[in-house]
Amino acid sequence: MKGLILSGGAGKRLRPITHTSAKQLVPVANKPILFYGIEEMASAGITDIGIVIAPTTGSEIKQAVGDGSKFGVRITWISQQEPLGLAHCVLVARDFLGDDEFVMYLGDNMLESGLSAFVERFVSERAAAEGSKPPAAQILLAHVSDPSSFGVAEIGADGQVIQLVEKPEHPPSDLALVGVYLFDQTIHEAVTKIEPSARGELEITDAIDWIISQGYRVDHEVLTGWWIDTGKKDPLLECNRLVLDTFTRSIDGDVDEVSTIEGEIVVEAGAKVINSTVRGPAIIGSGTTVENSEIGPYVSIAVDCRISGSEIDNSVVLRRSTVTDIARLTDSLVGRDTVLSRSIRSNETDATERFGRDDAGPTAVRVMVGDHCRVEIE
Ligand code: TTP
Repeated sequence: MKGLILSGGAGKRLRPITHTSAKQLVPVANKPILFYGIEEMASAGITDIGIVIAPTTGSEIKQAVGDGSKFGVRITWISQQEPLGLAHCVLVARDFLGDDEFVMYLGDNMLESGLSAFVERFVSERAAAEGSKPPAAQILLAHVSDPSSFGVAEIGADGQVIQLVEKPEHPPSDLALVGVYLFDQTIHEAVTKIEPSARGELEITDAIDWIISQGYRVDHEVLTGWWIDTGKKDPLLECNRLVLDTFTRSIDGDVDEVSTIEGEIVVEAGAKVINSTVRGPAIIGSGTTVENSEIGPYVSIAVDCRISGSEIDNSVVLRRSTVTDIARLTDSLVGRDTVLSRSIRSNETDATERFGRDDAGPTAVRVMVGDHCRVEIE
């Protein structure tokens, strides 16, 4: 069994962050999203992994992942010149995949439950069907409230998938395709038989539907834990909350005596907390200084940041960024090497006014700011 992780794509929905870097490298609880997928594969025993990359962000991803040895896996890099769809990724990965069975995983998705049980079921169903009809594919589905935004499955009485439709106007069920798929070599013929969709992409939904239409068996499983497509800010922040909720307290950095630490907080070695309150769950990366601030809950601050005179909750701050004198930063994603501060004019007003601490509480600022920006807030 091989693994194929899709880490190309355009990442339009996470602009401006994705103007300068790959969305799969945006950290959730201070670890790139992509690393969770690689770790899931490794723990399911899949050590031969191909990663599809785009020309713009490929080298950054290669540099972050390395040769895979830190995850105990071997990585093969597969270039996709244009984001022509998930089924197109299978086409470009043909040489790497050979005729092996493989699990395909979207590099910006995260699952609560691991891959092991899902993979084992496909392997055992194929072994059990010796001589009869083994599954050519197995898909993972989740109940969703808005099926029209997804690839949707119709399931027959025998539990097999009867039909798949991409973003249907009249969904046959509320079961949406989650970004994990298992295939045997039948998929290679399928991806050559389909035509680009209205959005100009070769859709994996159409390829799987072709497999069904040819009389092959496609199995499914319905996910029980959470699943998040992190490709937009709010789901990314939700994912950050879910992962931080699994943390337990570990204080390796310096927290001075006047600071208060409440709940499950990770303060990495080399981080400093000075005259501040940190409410968990939260993580403060190494080399970061938090001073005269209130942090949390649900905050991830990456390495080498400087936070002073600010309140931050439900936010992700990427490495080497500075947040100064922001009364309340909430529901925000701040890129790398970015400076977010109070404007000089506002700083000249008195402290009460500056922090907006009137009866209504501090004015909240919500931002999604890219890398290398300077933002001054009145
Ligand atoms: P999507 O999030 O569906 O597409 P996208 O990355 O182009 O994002 P947006 O819609 O915001 O522009 O892609 C899911 C995953 O698959 C993601 O990790 C990117 C990857 N992908 C490829 O590697 N090649 C492709 O051709 C496409 C469409 C996606």
